[in-house]
Amino acid sequence: MQRDSIPDHVPSALVSDFSLFTSPGMAPTANGDPHAAIARVHGMPHIFYSPFNTRDGRGTWVITRARDQRKVLEDIETFSSHRSIFSSALGEDWPMIPLELQPPAHGIFRALLDPLFTPRRVMALERNVRKQASALIDLIARMSTSCDVMKDFAIPFTVDVYLGVMGLSNSRSDVLIRWVSDLLHGNGVKRTEAAQSIVNFIDEVAAMRRKQPAADFMTFVVRAQVESRSLTNEEVRGIGVLFLIAGLDTVAAALGFDLAYLARNPEDQELLRREPDRIALAVEELLRAYSTVQIIRVATKDVDFEGVSIRKGDLVSCATMIANRDPAEFKCPDTIDLTRQGNRHIAFGYGPHLCLGANLARREIAIGVHEWLARIPTFRIKEGTAPITHGGHVFGVQNLILTWS
Ligand code: HEM
Repeated sequence: MQRDSIPDHVPSALVSDFSLFTSPGMAPTANGDPHAAIARVHGMPHIFYSPFNTRDGRGTWVITRARDQRKVLEDIETFSSHRSIFSSALGEDWPMIPLELQPPAHGIFRALLDPLFTPRRVMALERNVRKQASALIDLIARMSTSCDVMKDFAIPFTVDVYLGVMGLSNSRSDVLIRWVSDLLHGNGVKRTEAAQSIVNFIDEVAAMRRKQPAADFMTFVVRAQVESRSLTNEEVRGIGVLFLIAGLDTVAAALGFDLAYLARNPEDQELLRREPDRIALAVEELLRAYSTVQIIRVATKDVDFEGVSIRKGDLVSCATMIANRDPAEFKCPDTIDLTRQGNRHIAFGYGPHLCLGANLARREIAIGVHEWLARIPTFRIKEGTAPITHGGHVFGVQNLILTWS
């Protein structure tokens, strides 16, 4: 580890080579378990400095305790989410909305968008979500007794749900899947091209909905008013881009981790198949144990946080997969107990930026698992194959070959 990549104000005793990108189990690994690989952080200082903990190799503070992460995440004045991660891939500087906004703009846009994803609004989408899930699984069940869950179900399912919310047909699914994959996992030119294609797509859908309004998300956005004015083109784009990338990889990864867990634990699989009313609670436990998102904040000023001196401009990582396995917060955190009650996990973040799509995500996952169990008999990981998992900003499953008889 290069000492000169570590800022001078970071004490050596607080530096660790732990990283969500480079520690064992974080690179794509066959039969890997990136969540188990984070267990060691709970024996380390409660806040430490990781010199290589972002996709572009930057250092971050790592907050390990759930209660400290909540403190960081609710103080959005001190720990800001304003980073323009997407637009910087294009050499530009506009925020994804509302994720990269600070108060008061953040609150204004949350008030505008929150009503679109209330439990009641999500309930109205459920019929369509169930239809998308069952169509894909029926096709799999008809064709074979084996499939790659990610390619054949989880990824197309989340894209179809997204396109349904946007009021678009699924004729563009394949190309959207490629763009999102290149954006999140590709490098250099591929990533920039994917970002540009996504921007063009969002601009095109927005222009179409200005001309031909419909009962869908983008029509709402292009007609919306904040503080008695219409949204600018950049604001429409900032919202469109975020909703495209926030809900695809995350939901697909959750389904991948959940079905891999059930494939390896046939008793739990049978329990949920026999008593599907348990699925919603089980999904909460699986969201906790297999949390996928590392949240990054930037300190807006020098601050003494829980005895550690954090300087203005430092990056601070609140990795939900670390908080959600904090032994001070959860009894036996590495044990998966599908009947766990009072599950205060922060898989969807915490505080003002709490996931706006959480109601939809929960239903997508529960419906996906429910329809899978209802249509596919006892399944297991196919002999001779090994699911490939990875760490990073969003933990995920690259492939998961299941089989059944
Ligand atoms: C299992 C699936 C999902 C997980 C684990 C997840 C996780 C998260 C997390 C951790 C945050 C907080 C980020 C931060 O504080 O920096 C967040 C924010 C957000 N998520 Fe999700 N998400 C999921 C699905 C979705 C879906 C389906 C949508 C869209 C319908 C969505 C839309 C958003 C939006 C718009 C924000 C920004 C909220 C704000 O800044 O106020 N997410 N999500």
